[in-house]
Amino acid sequence: MKRVGNWHQRGLSRMIPLFKVGMSGDASARVAETLQSGYIGQGPRVEEFESALRKELGIQNLLTVNSGTSALHLALHLLKRPASGEGFHGIWPGLQPGDEVLATPLTCTATNWPVLGNGLELRWVDVDPNNANMSLDDLKQKLSSRTKVILLVHWGGYPVDLDALGRILDEATPHLGFRPMVIEDCAHAWKSTYKNRFIGSHGNLAAFSFQAIKHLTCGDGGLLVTPNTDLFKRGKLLRWYGIDRDDPRGDFRCENDVPEWGFKFHMNDISATIGLSNLEFADRAVEQHRDNAKFYNSVLQNTPGVELLENATDRLSSYWIYTIKVSRREDFRRKLSESGIMVSQVHERNDKHSTVESYRSFLPQLDSIIDKIICIPVGWWVDEIARNHIADTIKSGW
Ligand SMILES: Cc1ncc(COP(=O)(O)O)c(C=O)c1O
Repeated sequence: MKRVGNWHQRGLSRMIPLFKVGMSGDASARVAETLQSGYIGQGPRVEEFESALRKELGIQNLLTVNSGTSALHLALHLLKRPASGEGFHGIWPGLQPGDEVLATPLTCTATNWPVLGNGLELRWVDVDPNNANMSLDDLKQKLSSRTKVILLVHWGGYPVDLDALGRILDEATPHLGFRPMVIEDCAHAWKSTYKNRFIGSHGNLAAFSFQAIKHLTCGDGGLLVTPNTDLFKRGKLLRWYGIDRDDPRGDFRCENDVPEWGFKFHMNDISATIGLSNLEFADRAVEQHRDNAKFYNSVLQNTPGVELLENATDRLSSYWIYTIKVSRREDFRRKLSESGIMVSQVHERNDKHSTVESYRSFLPQLDSIIDKIICIPVGWWVDEIARNHIADTIKSGW
């Protein structure tokens, strides 16, 4: 496989890093061109990037925004209005202040804080100890008529079992009188697949992040996928104040009327140029993450003190991170650090923060893994020398 780089060439650190910015060789020249083009706001490069993303993912209703967090905030905001038809599985009652979002606590705070920002209530769902994703068994127990939204994360890029989730929601719909909407946080899951289709294309709202260290980076940026054209059209307006930039009068600065106010969430042409430059790089990067993960899946099997996460055959992770469960984690961390290998839990459980203290609940499965999970370097910069060194270090014990 032709590698896009390695840790010796592309970094100053002597440690093998856990994350690295993946930037294609021609990004600087292309950005320089955009900078001198006379247009750096939301313009032709954003259009071009969105067209490219439609082709990449095979999804029509997608909108770029300035971050994954904005995409999640907008996704929830769009659901406040009652609606019906395609994507809603019948009548959608709309979100009211105080409605409940069933969410995973094991994620970046960026997943869950938009729930609070939209005046909604969090209810934590326990985590499946086999894959670090939301536990669908616990989710099933916690569905109630107050549950309007399921907000899930594909941890490390490993897809949640979306068909099993769909069956749970189908069963619950007649009792609830509506079908809860699903928002997939796909920040880790660029080009992950579930049943041979890209994550983000399974009929839910989906949010991606193109932040600095994601597989595909724009510096900062995000993407919102909507399950129908109506939400797409509203999202397109609300990402920029509610003003129609395509108004045929041709002067969007002096808007006609704003029927629904919106945000300043749009992507600009500088970020879009970075994203366009990195599309091909990101594909090769994902391949290398997967190749390294396949190597670990094989060589770390049956290593004392190490438990690998689930790896079902109907889905393919992008392996943004590679998570294992280890015994005596602090000793493990010390040994790897002394061996020049950076490791981290990556995301802290969100339910521990005092700002969400009132939502705390008993989550025994998360409790059982939170002191064990640790991520080891798996990215495109981890070459054969590095990954052998990582595997040998782990296999030699700690
Ligand atoms: C799981 C998850 N969700 C959302 C985000 C937020 O994305 P962004 O940084 O683009 O706002 C991140 C972050 O980086 C993330 O890891």
